[in-house]
Amino acid sequence: MDKEKLVEALKQCRLVPVIVVEKAEEILPLGEALVKGGLPVAEVTFRSPAAADAIRLLKKEMPEVLLGAGTVLTKEQIDTAADAGAAFIVSPGFNPVNVKYAMDKGQIMVPGINSPSEAEQAMAMGLDVLKFFPAENAGGVGMLKAMNAVYPNLRIMPTGGINPGNVNDYLALPNVIACGGSWMCKKDLISAGEFDKIEALVKEALAALN
Ligand code: 3PG
Repeated sequence: MDKEKLVEALKQCRLVPVIVVEKAEEILPLGEALVKGGLPVAEVTFRSPAAADAIRLLKKEMPEVLLGAGTVLTKEQIDTAADAGAAFIVSPGFNPVNVKYAMDKGQIMVPGINSPSEAEQAMAMGLDVLKFFPAENAGGVGMLKAMNAVYPNLRIMPTGGINPGNVNDYLALPNVIACGGSWMCKKDLISAGEFDKIEALVKEALAALN
């Protein structure tokens, strides 16, 4: 997918559910809950051994879901995400070695930054779509306002500590394209198979957006 198309798709979604699955097959009912809830996007994180299979499964069975691979820390995980056809690859931090590796493979990498120095290093590598992590702990809305004053070209996806109480404040910022968060896909609901509750949380989250 072309980067500008991805940015447009993320802007339309406004929210990006950050997901951890312990069993790969959980990703399909979860994907259905997201689609039924009105949010066909998922950042499936490499925080469990099931992540690689889950990413492959979701891409194969539900290609309509905009698929990101999250918490990508290694070249092997970049390979897995790329081979599975993930549309974008997200990392919590800014690792120039991994960013270059992903870019050389033609992948869209959205690395995390939370300082001007990291933002400028990312910009020097040609990036202008970045994650801001951990958003609330790293200065939140105020920090992003200050960053926008000096780097208005950056398009940012904040995650970390975002919830129904603060998400609208982030989405109102001109540099924010979408907010990531785990609150809609809680781990305990996934492991209990309570996908109807996840669907309800997604609908609730979307309904509460300004
Ligand atoms: C991420 O990977 O983006 C964060 O862990 C999501 O943060 P949250 O759990 O505070 O929503």
